Amino acid sequence: MSETLVLENAMIVTPDEVLHGWIALANGRIAEIGTGRPPARGTDMAGDYLLPGLVELHTDHLESHLAPRPKVRWHHLSAVLAYDAQIAASGITTVFDSLRVGSDVDSRSLAGEIGAIAGAVETARTEGLLRVDHRMHLRCEICASDVIEETTHILGQFRIDLISLMDHTPGARQFRDTSTWKIYYGGKSGMTDAHLEIMIQDRVVLHHANHDRHRASLVALAKSHGIVLASHDDTTLAHVAESAADGIRLAEFPTTVEAAAASHAQGIQVMMGAPNVVRGGSHSGNVSAETLAREGVLDILSSDYVPASLLMGAFELAHRIEGFTLPRAVKTVSLNPALATGLTDRGALEAGLKADIVRVHMAGSLPVVREIWRDAQRVI
Ligand SMILES: [Fe+2]
Repeated sequence: MSETLVLENAMIVTPDEVLHGWIALANGRIAEIGTGRPPARGTDMAGDYLLPGLVELHTDHLESHLAPRPKVRWHHLSAVLAYDAQIAASGITTVFDSLRVGSDVDSRSLAGEIGAIAGAVETARTEGLLRVDHRMHLRCEICASDVIEETTHILGQFRIDLISLMDHTPGARQFRDTSTWKIYYGGKSGMTDAHLEIMIQDRVVLHHANHDRHRASLVALAKSHGIVLASHDDTTLAHVAESAADGIRLAEFPTTVEAAAASHAQGIQVMMGAPNVVRGGSHSGNVSAETLAREGVLDILSSDYVPASLLMGAFELAHRIEGFTLPRAVKTVSLNPALATGLTDRGALEAGLKADIVRVHMAGSLPVVREIWRDAQRVI
């Protein structure tokens, strides 16, 4: 039996309410939660919030640490540890490391290096160097010529927990407006307009050649390996119908209210970017996360390209939207993503669940991470 740790004088955010009280942790789990003073003296939380450790499904930050500049590859284990520390300091205790598979225009596909990357994560885990529970999310660019070969190879070697099906063809989904695609990729690459036009035509040809058969193959691969599937940038009712038919559980970044509402109504969890909440809109000019929250069809937030945005986004939802309580907002970054990916042992402050806990101090309206416990052990 490990020692019991008691945290007292805290604002405890449960799935249903915020209560002032204490929480006892033992054997890696939450043993008990109570209001007022605890039976035995605990550690004073000074009135700070205690939240369940956040669950992050879609972050591109491992790629950023591995490839900090074009053509630069950083030391794999060093990159994994720096990334892990940044993720933990953002309040996240379970992370799905997202890696792109399939060559894209600004190809930073690290598929050829996934063996080395997964090996570095495994080394860090077995040597007890990780603060966060890491899982793997393959982001498959389905029209890419090499996506099936790469995905099949990876599935034969590693445990994958989530696959998302992306189609970033200009004129479709995220880039319905091709001028937005030109700004996005042109800005990144500095290419001329004429060059971008040629690339658009090439991408459209690939879409017609590969989209349907690659999507069907990836859905079959995910099903045969028991991997949760996510759609990406669903825009129309036809996209949502296709997602439902394919057994998709999670809709990443639907671009319209119509697609989000239809997904939510069918039990497909709607996930939006927390930076979208914090910034007050989509960087691609699509529907805002706040609009979907007000419509009652937002289920999950993801930190996407800024890890710190996840905690901020939850507090912003509760602050800005009347009737969107803090417990409900916190569920979008903990319980809902946990359940969407089949993790039933975490995501809420409830007796019996994993003692993954974040202590949050409010600096004005900014939530600041002060301490983190994972399986009842301090990791920050
Ligand atoms: Fe996208």
